Amino acid sequence: MSHFQIEGGRPLSGALEIQGAKNSVLPILAATLLVPGECVIRNCPDLSDVTDTLEILKYLGCQVYREGNAVFVDAKELKRDTIPTCLMRKMRSSVIFLGPLLARRGRACLALPGGCELGPRPIDLHLMALKNLGARIEEEQGTVCCVADGLKGREICLPVPSVGATENAMLCACGCEGVTTIVGTAREPEIVDLQNFLCAMGADVSGAGERVLTIRGGRALHGGEYTVMGDRIAAATYLCATAAAGGAIELTGVDPAHLGAVLRALEQAGCVLTEEKSRIGLTSCGSLHGIAPVRTAPFPGFPTDAQAILMAALAGGRGCTMFVENIFESRYGHVDELCRMGADIQTFGRVAVVTGVGMLRGAEVRGCDLRCGAALVVAGLAARGKTQVGGLRHIRRGYDDLAGNLRRLGADIREMI
Ligand code: EPZ
Repeated sequence: MSHFQIEGGRPLSGALEIQGAKNSVLPILAATLLVPGECVIRNCPDLSDVTDTLEILKYLGCQVYREGNAVFVDAKELKRDTIPTCLMRKMRSSVIFLGPLLARRGRACLALPGGCELGPRPIDLHLMALKNLGARIEEEQGTVCCVADGLKGREICLPVPSVGATENAMLCACGCEGVTTIVGTAREPEIVDLQNFLCAMGADVSGAGERVLTIRGGRALHGGEYTVMGDRIAAATYLCATAAAGGAIELTGVDPAHLGAVLRALEQAGCVLTEEKSRIGLTSCGSLHGIAPVRTAPFPGFPTDAQAILMAALAGGRGCTMFVENIFESRYGHVDELCRMGADIQTFGRVAVVTGVGMLRGAEVRGCDLRCGAALVVAGLAARGKTQVGGLRHIRRGYDDLAGNLRRLGADIREMI
């Protein structure tokens, strides 16, 4: 199996343009189903999750092609409203297709997305929102079918600010007559990006990033162009890598306001940061110290997707830090692997206590999910000796040329087939 081979201990330096955001481009690509014309999505990263999403769009009847980092999708002639298990199985976040298919075709059927490495991934809030808008939900033998008996805008109250459920509700509401308000909406930057895309295609959506989102549905949408925002978690990954290995990097194409909690944590750990409109600089001596407890939370709190990555950076430093993972049930798959590299991490349910050991040692490790894999790369870059990181299929889901970018910053990392 292919793996990354890393020779640790080399500082990182240089400048890097950050890839387009995975968690933004996936719902935006699903949203193209609402548009009976050609959408051009620019700054689209080259990720396996994007490839899988384009496969689904093609299966549904869209004309799809890619030129560099621009993807062209024309959903004028849709011919299906069911996504087969073989395509669903590749990517659980395909549940985002329910809303736009229901709005456009009046029907949407897909295999229930199973749980994943992060624990159970329920979709009850997605289905509650679609039901509120008038959909009839039928679940049988592992599939869920939503049928629209007259979609109508209504108020939706989300008890949990679910990113995916907010996005599904937004997309379905675009096809509903009348006004939909989503109270208790997720406020992540990716929701704002989706709102901006929808408005660029003629929709009337407002309030993203605040507590209440308003969609005035039933408008005819038209084709157009949109540039996806920079990936804040990819940016956090390169920042944590440099924080742990030492050095000085500058990232462009990412908004510092999108990852404020991560930047504050890195500052506490001893890094020096500079922030401008779409540019972040970080300098680190490579020996980080413990920081105040890190509690993951919905935006603008500390992002769960950066928890493993920051933990990997702190594990090789000095001092003690407590993490509390409040979003997903089991998002400590990276802990055992980091301990194989000499880390001292104790977990108690949702709590993990990291005691820095000064320097990790290289080992053969394996990523069990996307951010676990990235965290092990971060650890390997700072560790003494050689680290082999397996599970590259997970990393390829969310990082566009991670090894190439790190090499350009001075890392000794190569993919061994
Ligand atoms: C999105 O997942 C992201 N994925 C995740 O990124 C991210 O970790 C997560 O939001 C939180 O920010 C994409 O955008 C493709 P949620 P999503 O619905 O939408 C519970 C990565 O590494 N919940 O906000 O699935 C759920 O169990 C990935 O890039 C329900 O109970 O997350 C979780 O505890 C991993 N019922 C909490 O809400 C539901 O119907 C937040 O989940 C839906 C969610």
